[in-house]
Amino acid sequence: MQRTLVLLKPDCVQRRLMGEVISRFEAKGLEIVAMKMIQITPELAKQHYAEHVEKPFYGGLEAFITSAPVIAMAIDGLEVIRVVREMLGATSGLKAAAGTIRGDFSSSRQMNLVHASDGEEAAARELKLYFGDSEFCDFNSPMTSFMR
Ligand code: PPS
Repeated sequence: MQRTLVLLKPDCVQRRLMGEVISRFEAKGLEIVAMKMIQITPELAKQHYAEHVEKPFYGGLEAFITSAPVIAMAIDGLEVIRVVREMLGATSGLKAAAGTIRGDFSSSRQMNLVHASDGEEAAARELKLYFGDSEFCDFNSPMTSFMR
């Protein structure tokens, strides 16, 4: 099992697409084990996007990600880091394949609706930015065991 950090970005919240995106993760059989709505501060944005802070697009990215609340989620599943990234599609909504979340709902590289960790190291680092150890809920049941 793996755990990944997913953010429903400001455009997802403002366009009322939260339910649509969450439904896709649920339909896939993934386990949302933590979830909260928060306003990202410039300080948190710099930590989250540490590898991009020096890039020319960072100013616009920070302005965007702090412009409205986001939903932060921790999602568990087998190979969930790869699975969620594939469900999102390519970074740019213009390039993402039809059938992916970005391919179906985004036409932008910045306003691409959802962020997901791109590897195990990133997932561990990003999860710590949004959740304390006590915030993860295990809702394992005979049904979810069956679904694995
Ligand atoms: S890069 O340049 O390849 O390292 O960037 P990439 O991994 O594709 O994207 C990282 C995040 O930065 C956002 N991004 C941009 N925002 C605005 N303008 C431009 N040109 C741009 N390029 C990348 C992109 O939406 C990614 O956000 P996350 O939250 O990781 O999906």
